[in-house]
Amino acid sequence: MPHIVFNNEKNIETPFQRDGVSFNFCAKSFNFTKEDRRTEYKIGVNYENKDFLLTLKDKGENKMLKVDKVTRVTPVTLVKDALNAYSKELDANIVFSNTNSFSQKIEPKKEYLKDIEYFVNDFKTNKEIQIEIGFGSGRHLLHQAKKNPNVQFIGLEIHTPSIEQLLKQLKIQEIENVLVVNYDARLFMEFINSNKVGKIFVHFPVPWDKKPHRRIYSNEFIDEALRVLMPKGTLELRTDSRKYFDYCTELLTNLNSGRITIDINKDLEVSSKYEDRWKKQGKNIYDVVLECQREDEDIDLKHDFSFGKINLEKFKEIISNKPMVDENFFIHIEDLFLLEEPNSGLIEVTFGSFNRPLSKYIYVKNNKASYYQGTPLPTSANIKAHERLKEILK
Ligand SMILES: C[S@@+](CC[C@H](N)C(=O)[O-])C[C@H]1O[C@@H](n2cnc3c(N)ncnc32)[C@H](O)[C@@H]1O
Repeated sequence: MPHIVFNNEKNIETPFQRDGVSFNFCAKSFNFTKEDRRTEYKIGVNYENKDFLLTLKDKGENKMLKVDKVTRVTPVTLVKDALNAYSKELDANIVFSNTNSFSQKIEPKKEYLKDIEYFVNDFKTNKEIQIEIGFGSGRHLLHQAKKNPNVQFIGLEIHTPSIEQLLKQLKIQEIENVLVVNYDARLFMEFINSNKVGKIFVHFPVPWDKKPHRRIYSNEFIDEALRVLMPKGTLELRTDSRKYFDYCTELLTNLNSGRITIDINKDLEVSSKYEDRWKKQGKNIYDVVLECQREDEDIDLKHDFSFGKINLEKFKEIISNKPMVDENFFIHIEDLFLLEEPNSGLIEVTFGSFNRPLSKYIYVKNNKASYYQGTPLPTSANIKAHERLKEILK
């Protein structure tokens, strides 16, 4: 992480500009969490149309300036330039700096690798969609994509080397109908429109015998799967784990909008790396296919994440660092930084779902609050957490 350690006493006032970097505000820690915590500042930066924060705090006898990790931006040269510009304005007596030694890492072009924001804001297709969850080596996904050129495939994985490997194969084999997302499959489907998906493959998911809450299948997952599946669309589990098979069969039995089919040791056209291993060991392979028998209303992916009028003074009185925990979401106020103007500052908060918490800053100016660096993704947990936060800040 680029940072600068220096030992000046000089204070500089915001806003100012230096070397094309705008330093817009400086907020001071309110210290409601730890009694003996030293003062820390958050400096609001805008550079090349990107907003981010720098943290200025004591480090022994000296001071340290670095990027605030919640608001980190790429490429890292933006941060480096901002740190250098601030220290020049300060005429800093530099003790340590690593802001010049960074090699500029250029990301290779990965046109099939998409951010989750792409699915929220831009993704549209007239084709049938099929999704593979946890594609691993990608053998099954590549096979399906080649065989069905008119289907738009979406591959979900959280293991980066598997993603890299699949992207390479897509290029080598000139396959163009696969989009890849590095995102937790349990949350991804919230961003797909209803009745658009023909098949969802879940092949050899991690059985998580000791931590069942981490399993892909749950009542909520099945309900979302049924929503995105078109009538007669299928959710297909293939597993070598008897326990996982029993667990899923129980969840899927007696659903009033789905019908299940069960098979043991059924042969597919392609065998995955895991499957080969289990077959060699003589293990049974179980299939449970759920066929969707319902049609759903479309969902609205636009949510209004505004706050209305808030009351920062009152919030200062009630603020506590105890997390607020609800059934499907939580809110944890991490910190508060105040600007010199009254009713203005930055609230640092972590909230949303337990599986994928989101850290954000809320920028408040004259009691008008908005999310710094843009609004959260409209997941149901984020929406619920936001609505609760709005109540708290009122
Ligand atoms: C046991 S491997 C099976 C891989 C592949 N389907 C096969 O049959 O060879 C399970 C894969 O699921 C991925 N995975 C686990 N949890 C996931 C999640 N919540 N969302 C997306 N992928 C996940 C893992 O990274 C891993 O690559």
